[in-house]
Amino acid sequence: MSDDLETTETPFDPSTRPGRVLIVDDEANARSALAELLEDEGYVTATASDGVEALEKLETFTPEVVLTDLKMPRMDGLALLEEGKKRQPSLAFVVMTAFGSIDTAVEAIKRGAENYLTKPLDVNSVAAIVARALEKARLSAEAALLRAQVDKRLSFGGILGDHPTMQRVLKIVGQVAPTRATVLITGESGTGKELVAAALHHNSARSKAPFIRLNCASLAETLLESELFGHERGSFTGAEKRRAGRFEQAHGGTLFLDEVSEIPMATQVKLLRFLQERELERVGGNETIRVDVRVVAASNRDLRQMVADGTFREDLYYRLNVVQIEMPPLRVRRSDIPTLAHHFLRKYREENKRPIEGFTDAALRALVAYPWPGNVRELENAVERAVVLCEGPMIDTELLPSATGPAMTRPPENGGGGLDLLIPGITMGEVERIVIERTLESVGGSTARAAEVLGISRRTIQYRLKEWRGASEIDLDE
Ligand SMILES: Nc1ncnc2c1ncn2[C@@H]1O[C@H](COP(=O)(O)OP(=O)(O)OP(=O)(O)O)[C@@H](O)[C@H]1O
Ligand SMILES: [Mg+2]
Repeated sequence: MSDDLETTETPFDPSTRPGRVLIVDDEANARSALAELLEDEGYVTATASDGVEALEKLETFTPEVVLTDLKMPRMDGLALLEEGKKRQPSLAFVVMTAFGSIDTAVEAIKRGAENYLTKPLDVNSVAAIVARALEKARLSAEAALLRAQVDKRLSFGGILGDHPTMQRVLKIVGQVAPTRATVLITGESGTGKELVAAALHHNSARSKAPFIRLNCASLAETLLESELFGHERGSFTGAEKRRAGRFEQAHGGTLFLDEVSEIPMATQVKLLRFLQERELERVGGNETIRVDVRVVAASNRDLRQMVADGTFREDLYYRLNVVQIEMPPLRVRRSDIPTLAHHFLRKYREENKRPIEGFTDAALRALVAYPWPGNVRELENAVERAVVLCEGPMIDTELLPSATGPAMTRPPENGGGGLDLLIPGITMGEVERIVIERTLESVGGSTARAAEVLGISRRTIQYRLKEWRGASEIDLDE
């Protein structure tokens, strides 16, 4: 038996931590006999006399396995199973049932119990079955933990992206968020610049102070200046009261200057001064005000080119560009498209109360192949539109923009369709996967034949398939 226990020690926990078993039975003798038996096997145990007491012990004792009788007063084993699984999905249940009432045991298995034992109990099978249940509980707890980590990695402040280019962005966001470094976020329209600016703020010690945003393109020169720095009473026509600017409002927090390329030259000087001295004067005022503000700027224009053209100050450019985050366009990270599309599908399905199940395979292929000149925003809008217009349970191609339609930026080569539409935007690993899967498809699934066609070894194919199967299991459960 102790051999059995050896193998139950989870590979994730080298400390040979003893398993924790809660024994639930209304018969005191049965409880103590089981406790003794399991403690001899090295478990830590606790007991309860019915479901109600057992639920309390879930909190105080934190078992990994519950060994429970089915027929008990107050709350029976099935009810306990249901409630316990709700509270802690990784908890493993083994139910004990009187000989001859196998129906309830079957019912318990259906509701998620790991296994059952028939009474009178066979001492040897108790230990073996509890050991197996413990192993299952630990694997499932570990899987839940891993999943939580994966989710966290994938969604830094709601920013989805598993493609290496996005993982690099998220890594930089994580590194610079806690600092006060000025950050310049560049990238095409709709690539998520504002989302990253907000993530920088929310993952910093400033997160409780304000995140103030100003679109520099939205105001005329004089208004922009007073909006940023505030003004004293009477400093210009219409300035009837003294007013604090965005910098002052953002004190302790973050000021996000969107479309920073649109700041006129005169205002650029003032912004530069703030970045150098951390102080400013209101329009029409002499008082020098010190504020603690982190500046994050964004631009979808090429500031370096503007510097070369003389329309953007070089010194300001370098002050803003302490750290630069370049947002990749969606077409160079196409493998993120399915995740994003499903994310927006869930969002707009809820919002519009539409019972839509998903995308057809053809629709997903079309989404991945489309060049998305408007990037994530365009994808979001396209999915919203499709959700609203969709009449069946599945979104199909006719509701989506098409790579071969009028919006296509270049004609499909090699007769259209296929891999060519996906390049750039997929990784070498993804190319390999597509090539191997399509070849397998065309040779009827024979790895030997596919290996011959591809000029690689059969073992390589088998090895990859095994790898991907593991990966797709994670995807499916998402
Ligand atoms: N990686 C992402 N994960 C989830 N949603 C995203 C992602 N990137 C962008 N979005 C969503 O796409 C939309 C556009 O993003 P955002 O406004 O941040 O883009 P932008 O780069 O600031 O665009 P613009 O230059 O046009 O202002 C938003 O609704 C945002 O939530
Ligand atoms: Mg924006």
